[in-house]
Amino acid sequence: MTRITRRQFHGSVLAAAAAATLPTFARAKTAPLLNAREGSARLAPAEYPETRIWGYDGTVPGPALRARQGERMTKSFRNDLPQASSVHWHGIRIENGMDGVAGLTQPAVEPGEEFLYDFALPDAGTYWYHPHNLTYEQMARGLYGALIVEENEGAPDVDLDEVLLIDDWRLTDDAQIAEGFGNMHDWAHGGRIGNWITVNGNGRWSREVAHHTRMRLRLVNTANARIFTLEARGLQGWVVALDGMPLEAPQPLGELTLSPAQRADLIVDVVAGIGEEAFLVSFERDGGYAIAAFPVAGVARQTRLSAPGALPPNPVPVLGSLETAARAELRMEGGAMGSMRGAMMGGRMMGMRDMAVEGKVWAFNGMADMGDTPLLDARLGETVRIAMINDTAWPHGMHLHGHHFRRIGVGGRLGPLRDTILMNRGETVEIVFVADNPGDWLLHCHMLEHSAGGMMTWLRVA
Ligand code: C2O
Ligand code: CU
Repeated sequence: MTRITRRQFHGSVLAAAAAATLPTFARAKTAPLLNAREGSARLAPAEYPETRIWGYDGTVPGPALRARQGERMTKSFRNDLPQASSVHWHGIRIENGMDGVAGLTQPAVEPGEEFLYDFALPDAGTYWYHPHNLTYEQMARGLYGALIVEENEGAPDVDLDEVLLIDDWRLTDDAQIAEGFGNMHDWAHGGRIGNWITVNGNGRWSREVAHHTRMRLRLVNTANARIFTLEARGLQGWVVALDGMPLEAPQPLGELTLSPAQRADLIVDVVAGIGEEAFLVSFERDGGYAIAAFPVAGVARQTRLSAPGALPPNPVPVLGSLETAARAELRMEGGAMGSMRGAMMGGRMMGMRDMAVEGKVWAFNGMADMGDTPLLDARLGETVRIAMINDTAWPHGMHLHGHHFRRIGVGGRLGPLRDTILMNRGETVEIVFVADNPGDWLLHCHMLEHSAGGMMTWLRVA
């Protein structure tokens, strides 16, 4: 209880009376709140204690935010964490000032403070939100949620629409989140790989369905660093969108790989029979694990529905000529078992050992931290190609902010629109996009220990 003196009490009564007679204005305080705070979640089975987490509105995952294409999303973010934070709306082709990158597009939101996010949603699809300050710790503690933008028309006809946020936690023996977020061994290797996988914060996620139920499954990899290799059992269907963006034609669903931050929208039919279970299976080194179960009770319809058409395309700009496009090259170096000897940091050359003391173990183009100059200065509307060369012994999931890109394949064949692309060790990937969104935009590895460890650069679109 807080004691209130008589004087304060009078003051607040008067203030309330005065406020009642004033017109109301749209202020940050009146926007719906999104509150980052501590909480607890039942991540592990019942014989374990609940896990203390950090979550949006205190939950894992945070609230699923849903809106229609063309609408605005307005959220007053309130930070009740013991650390400064921010919210990044991953995959939204957003206005720069709302992109939520602490230190680039806004100052970090200090504990006890609020920040108003208010932005348009140009594209339908499956997106998500997460912090962009000390991200490797804050996401590992549970800060993330889904942002679903519904199609205005042409939404597929499904019986069920399920969002499945797939996460990888490193838990202690008593099911608490293991500390050691700054572990340089993790940073120089594959990142913070966990020991407990959840779907929507549940280690045994399950949803009852009927035979021949048609579902849209929206998969999101919210792990810090784990790459998921997924297959369906007892479900048959198609991949209809990647990273929010519809494919030109649905692709038959087979093995599906999702790097951290990648999404896939599936349309699947339950083909498992009554009394059986359908599964989503994650393949790890030691075998497959059912991470989501769909027990089958009843029959939705006697025969399967016919194959779905493509989702309606989003209003993404048309690419200009590849020949005259602006070009940049990004050489990715460092990490364990790599050949990097040192890199530039804070304007001077440093050896690997000194870099590691400063928490940097990776570099882009010989630079181990965000330089003052962008990788590329693009004119507004210019078509841009970036050749990314993975000169490391590790895979990386490279993410571009504010735009979706396509991979330029052999013979100039273009891949699907994505915002995050998985690059294998030693691989070179060239991407192309129209720089139509003004501002400063990050390009980084979404394995969060890698970006914190130096795999971060930015582009300017002016
Ligand atoms: Cu999902 Cu730079 O972020
Ligand atoms: Cu990486």
